[in-house]
Amino acid sequence: MTSLWRHPRCLRNEYLWARSWLRRLRNRPGAALLDIADRLRAGDPPGSLVLAMAESLASFSDDPSALTCSYLTAAHRATADRIRNWMLAAGFQSHIDAVGNVIGLLEGTGAVHGCLLSGSHYDTVVNAGKFDGRLGIIVPIVAATRLRRAGVRLPVGLQVIAFAEEEGVRFESTFLGSRALTGQFDPKVLDRTDGAGVSMRAAMAAAGLDWTAIASTAVNPDSVLGFVEVHIEQGPVLLDENLPVGVVTSIAGSIRNTVTVTGMAGHSGTVPMGKRRDAAAASAEIILAVEQRCSRYPGLVGTVGQLVVPGGAMNVIPGSCHFSVDVRAPTDEVRDAAMEDILAVSREVAARRKVEIDWKEVLRVSSVECAPQIRTQLADSVCRVLDAPAARLLPSGAGHDAMVMADITPMGMLFVRCGNGGVSHHPSETLSEEDADTAVRVFEDFLLHFGEAHVAGK
Ligand code: GLV
Ligand code: MN
Ligand code: MN
Repeated sequence: MTSLWRHPRCLRNEYLWARSWLRRLRNRPGAALLDIADRLRAGDPPGSLVLAMAESLASFSDDPSALTCSYLTAAHRATADRIRNWMLAAGFQSHIDAVGNVIGLLEGTGAVHGCLLSGSHYDTVVNAGKFDGRLGIIVPIVAATRLRRAGVRLPVGLQVIAFAEEEGVRFESTFLGSRALTGQFDPKVLDRTDGAGVSMRAAMAAAGLDWTAIASTAVNPDSVLGFVEVHIEQGPVLLDENLPVGVVTSIAGSIRNTVTVTGMAGHSGTVPMGKRRDAAAASAEIILAVEQRCSRYPGLVGTVGQLVVPGGAMNVIPGSCHFSVDVRAPTDEVRDAAMEDILAVSREVAARRKVEIDWKEVLRVSSVECAPQIRTQLADSVCRVLDAPAARLLPSGAGHDAMVMADITPMGMLFVRCGNGGVSHHPSETLSEEDADTAVRVFEDFLLHFGEAHVAGK
């Protein structure tokens, strides 16, 4: 008979061998996916799961030293696949549509015709935080999985949408995903090119997406009961008031322009100051006018986020200059009045400095009010979960896919506290595990009551 006795050194070696294999298995490509799918199925605590999922998506980046996920890059496609796999693990039917949106459907009992839609974007700005957009994809997946595990089947269907493109970084095609889903895709954007001269049409072909099918990916508004987006606040209001979540009242409207100023290049040592047509100096006057004009009204904001002197050199007078202008306000009237004044300054600067100034509008989106019934339902859920008498209501200065979804259905948003002073569009954007947990619980409560309200025909 063979003895089972092993020398302790031998046991230790076997233990080390097994541990190293376990490590190798965990580190292989796709392991994070399996871990998270298992954790979803096992009903892990929601807060830590949300943070782990955001961390996992952040491992795909166009840039190894920072999180950047631009439309249709390899990192973007890998992110979409991972989201789709999580949706499948969570019991959703899932597919990627013609524009790259990842759609997950959880059927309801059929007691009510139609679906509640929820989601946000998975593309990011350059050097982004991990939660902008992604939180609004992860929270509904986790909340729906928890309800399923508890044996709850909602009377309404739930569609979670991970929008392919909202930031507009690569092709200046802001809200591309939600515009396609709402039947507002503009085929003209297919001809836009990225910084390397690649057209969106070519990028889609390379990613295996069929742009001719985009028109048919639009949802039928008759089958949509509402849209709710969960989003990190991206500002300090909830943080300053020590509140984990708040309910959005309205979303500011915005106009974005790219501006090209053309003057005359020349030798920095020889052209007298009075004879110059300096494109950068002209731009500087307009940039200051944007800042001054937009400081005059509460909630009105103006930003020049991009500014370049192409081919600039220390000893050359700038012959051209490019910059962007992003103006937002709680109402379209306030925003439009500010834009008119800025354009008047631009005309005056052009005449006085003898430069050409060309404004190209790349985005115009109206401010929108959140639907009163969804606002109330979200606020009721916040009160129940936090055991609070009232929910904090606050406007959104940032743009969201929810603004576009509001064109076809009642829309609402839940904001979740942003740590680190409320910084966003920056790698130091943070969210605590406790707040992620609260967000999931509020969304879960909202799902339950939204379904009930529809059964009761409210
Ligand atoms: C989206 O992030 C925006 O620019 O508001
Ligand atoms: Mn953003
Ligand atoms: Mn966002």
